Amino acid sequence: MALKESVPMLNKASCPNVINKPTVISMVGLPARGKTYMSKKLTRYLNWIGIRTKAFNVGEYRRAATDKYRNHDFFRQDNTEAQAIRQKCALLAIDDACNFLQNGGEVAVVDATNTTRERRKLLFDIIQVKHKFKLFFIESICDDPTIVEANVLEVKVCSPDYIGMNKDEAVQDFMRRIEHYNDMYEPLDHTTDKDLSYIQIFNQGERFLVHKLAGHLQSRVVYYLMNIHVLPRTIYLTRHGESEMNLQGRIGGDSNLSPRGEEYAVALGEYVEKEKIANLKVWTSELKRTKATARHVDAPVENWKALNEIDAGICEGMTYEEIQEMHPKEFALRDQDKFHYRYPGGESYQDLVARLEPVIMELERQENVLVVCHQAVARCLLAYFQDKSSDEIPYVPVPNEAVVKMRMSGSGCECENMHLLDPRRPGLSQGPTSHCHQADPSSLWL
Ligand code: SIN
Repeated sequence: MALKESVPMLNKASCPNVINKPTVISMVGLPARGKTYMSKKLTRYLNWIGIRTKAFNVGEYRRAATDKYRNHDFFRQDNTEAQAIRQKCALLAIDDACNFLQNGGEVAVVDATNTTRERRKLLFDIIQVKHKFKLFFIESICDDPTIVEANVLEVKVCSPDYIGMNKDEAVQDFMRRIEHYNDMYEPLDHTTDKDLSYIQIFNQGERFLVHKLAGHLQSRVVYYLMNIHVLPRTIYLTRHGESEMNLQGRIGGDSNLSPRGEEYAVALGEYVEKEKIANLKVWTSELKRTKATARHVDAPVENWKALNEIDAGICEGMTYEEIQEMHPKEFALRDQDKFHYRYPGGESYQDLVARLEPVIMELERQENVLVVCHQAVARCLLAYFQDKSSDEIPYVPVPNEAVVKMRMSGSGCECENMHLLDPRRPGLSQGPTSHCHQADPSSLWL
């Protein structure tokens, strides 16, 4: 007992020598500089790679705290009443971010303007001095008026602050709001802020300045930010057409397409031709069934080993009944925790996410891409774009004989399923499309 009492409880937050200390990522920048876009995207990415992350948007705290926003006057520096509300909301958000990190969170993103040195000092004192968390600033600087205007028009006029206001008035009001912030703006500076860790992003990724990176997580964040872009584009994702092994109810393997799978390949070629997609690239796995599915698409094709289906190890090529009979324990284990379960000699969904990270990174860099892949791989990729938690990944619905069309823009990702063959026709044996325990081997196991 005495020994127990004399040993202080160590946790990541309190131990000064721990490398992977929780981190607060604090955004910096004038309104309409893409901070919320980056916060959301980064949060989604970090969660997808298994780092527990949450964003805290100070604008949302302000809207929950007061309905006093009538127009840009709220953001005037001489509006003391509003200043007090804004300060209180910022403190609440910082407090919630720290609580999140004290309760198992790994990264908290404080999505706010933080445009004054005074505000950043407050963040530093609470986060780094008091809580001993790491603090990393991401500053978005944009002096190109066309980028700012496009952002205001695409995102800001739809803000809850402007419900019931016409578009032009909302744009004008928002521009005045930016001016109020600009009056007090103090960008990060490599002499005054020489001890801080930060990245400055100029004009949406035209140029970057990275200062005093502190650790692996910050490097990863920087790498991600350097790869993303905001150009509108569409990612098309499809599972391969029905394969011969699908017909036999066997999982994995490297079989050819069935006649119905060949029909899907033709339908996919026709669909892509009708869509008239500019500079389309096609990515398949290295397995025969995805290559054959993409065969009729008229666009350059690249085969990625990283897109191969989850490796089912000792269960590769088996039917559902054979697996149940020969490996009943494995079946039960997988059902308990499908994300972490690793097939003996094979992979887990968690392994698959790690394998697919370079694919996601490259997809972020690209414009229009058609990905022809497999069920488990499609689940992981869709989970990234649709912001699903790791628990949900193994059950993300992947439609059969359909293309998931994902339109990306600065305001988010819109998904639509384009069914290319009639699902009511007999012969469809690729399994159901959603989370369920149905008697279909490929769906249940992969
Ligand atoms: C807001 O209240 O909308 C933004 C608060 C801030 O980050 O300055």
